[in-house]
Amino acid sequence: MDNAEMKRGIVIKDDWPGYSLELFTYPEHYHEDIESVYIPHGVIMDRVERLARYVMDDFEDNFMVLCVLKGGYKFCSDLVEFIKVLGRNSNKYLETRVEFIRLKSYLNDQSTEELHIIGSRDLSFLRGKSVLIVEAIVDTGKTMKALLQHVETFEPKMVKVAGLLVKRLPNMAENLTDYVGFEIPNHFVVGYALDYNEYFRDLNHICVISETGKMKYKV
Ligand code: HPA
Ligand code: MG
Repeated sequence: MDNAEMKRGIVIKDDWPGYSLELFTYPEHYHEDIESVYIPHGVIMDRVERLARYVMDDFEDNFMVLCVLKGGYKFCSDLVEFIKVLGRNSNKYLETRVEFIRLKSYLNDQSTEELHIIGSRDLSFLRGKSVLIVEAIVDTGKTMKALLQHVETFEPKMVKVAGLLVKRLPNMAENLTDYVGFEIPNHFVVGYALDYNEYFRDLNHICVISETGKMKYKV
């Protein structure tokens, strides 16, 4: 596997229909709201474990994780957990601090123009640190680009981005993501803390939302 391929993560093809819902368990109240299990929870965990190894290899001291809420909370907590396990089972322990930033740029399934940083905009604790931004999904890249610019103003020593999912778009922005879990087609996905108007964060698999689901939870 060459480096370019590695940077794309697990590539999910356009014609992947997902697994039938009946093959897995999921909260019954979402029965009509999701089409299929797109990435089962177990596969997510296995991939996050591998990403933890990449991070472990690349970072040394002054490591700081910046978790992008709310969607990134599951990915971040599982990633950090795997980093800790790796540290206990090898002779390199990466001392890990986690900070949080809350962003909002989506309404229904559409990206809005602005990036809203909710809560503290002051990230001066990042100065001189080796920062890993942990984000559940990199979509148009607009949010990530704006966040990277904002983070750079606080003069960290180094910044890398972990994105569990990266959407494959026709005019994909330059590659902003250093560690990619899965490259997926341009579907709106939910679960594993990813939401549609705050619903579906409690679904453990990553699933494709159905038209019924989109209508039911539209605002
Ligand atoms: N699902 C949930 N949130 C998102 C998505 C998505 O596909 N893209 C950007 N934010
Ligand atoms: Mg959201």
